[in-house]
Amino acid sequence: MRRRHPLLGATLLALVATAIGIAIVLAIDWWPSQASTASKPIDTLYDVLLIISVPVFVLVMTVALYSVYAFRARPGDMRDGAPIHGNTRLEVVWVTIPFIIVSALAAYGWIVLDDIEAKQKGEMRINVTAQQFAWSFDYPEEGGIKSNQLVLEKDRPVRFYIKSKDVLHDFWVPDFRLKTDAVPGLTTHIRVKPNRVGSYPVVCAELCGIGHSTMRQTVRVLEKADYEKWIADQGQSEEDGGMAAAGGDPVDAGRTLFDGTGCGACHTLADAGSTGAVGPELDDLAAQAAKYAKQEGISPEQYVRQAIVEPSEFVVPDFDDGLMPGDYGTQLSPAEIDTLVKYLLTVGKGANAQ
Ligand code: CUA
Repeated sequence: MRRRHPLLGATLLALVATAIGIAIVLAIDWWPSQASTASKPIDTLYDVLLIISVPVFVLVMTVALYSVYAFRARPGDMRDGAPIHGNTRLEVVWVTIPFIIVSALAAYGWIVLDDIEAKQKGEMRINVTAQQFAWSFDYPEEGGIKSNQLVLEKDRPVRFYIKSKDVLHDFWVPDFRLKTDAVPGLTTHIRVKPNRVGSYPVVCAELCGIGHSTMRQTVRVLEKADYEKWIADQGQSEEDGGMAAAGGDPVDAGRTLFDGTGCGACHTLADAGSTGAVGPELDDLAAQAAKYAKQEGISPEQYVRQAIVEPSEFVVPDFDDGLMPGDYGTQLSPAEIDTLVKYLLTVGKGANAQ
């Protein structure tokens, strides 16, 4: 009877395992939608990395498992192993092949990165500010509009200038395949060209404190005409507190500001559907404001305004000073703050008290 070489079986097994492994890694949907020009080249790069990783993994595991089985000590066999002292040919092979693979992948990765980071014609500057626990954006080339929503025009390249006011954050838009640290004392940059209309999450990807997991906002990519309307509305909102855009309804206007300013990341408010727990809940704000305003000898409206603009002046018991950003007075216009104050005192009458 002809004896098969033991390596033949192992090789066949490794080939089958490789084919199955590649089919599995390619079938898994690793990524969210492709919403920027960087998405496709990055996803292809990852597919190539996965395809090359599978045979390496399978080869190493096959050799390891085969050796454990084939060269195991038989019962009662107390002999030492054979005194093997290296194998130059084998060592040259296992150094050279990985060197070639890793160098080729590094070159490929560098080419993709260089391409993605290249300066683009007509790019617009947007400043991104990170702070515990919200993102804010301003548009120096659109009349200095400040916004807590990131809104972009489809097919218009953007360069982000990213800063942090307090600790490390990480500006991440998974659908754009874009991710860059926000570092206190530095301005970091990243370019993107959104090419798909839609809403996508903006996520903080660096543990930055108690509200880290709620430091999420939305980026909206709009067609040119919608984008220009949004820009015009922003200017209008600074003047009338968002009333015109809400069709004159003060509660709608207030809710839009509450959502857009990211208040819900830290505060629970039933009317806005938010459940943040970093700061005081606002469902019974009217009663709380009446109580604290009386202590301070001011009106409830003055109290709520001060709580937004100068949060350190009066810190609600059981909450820490410095958690609430102190610059909403510059992020929002006086009319917008008026709208928010009225809104909070209107809807903050207690979910049960209504
Ligand atoms: Cu900011 Cu995590």
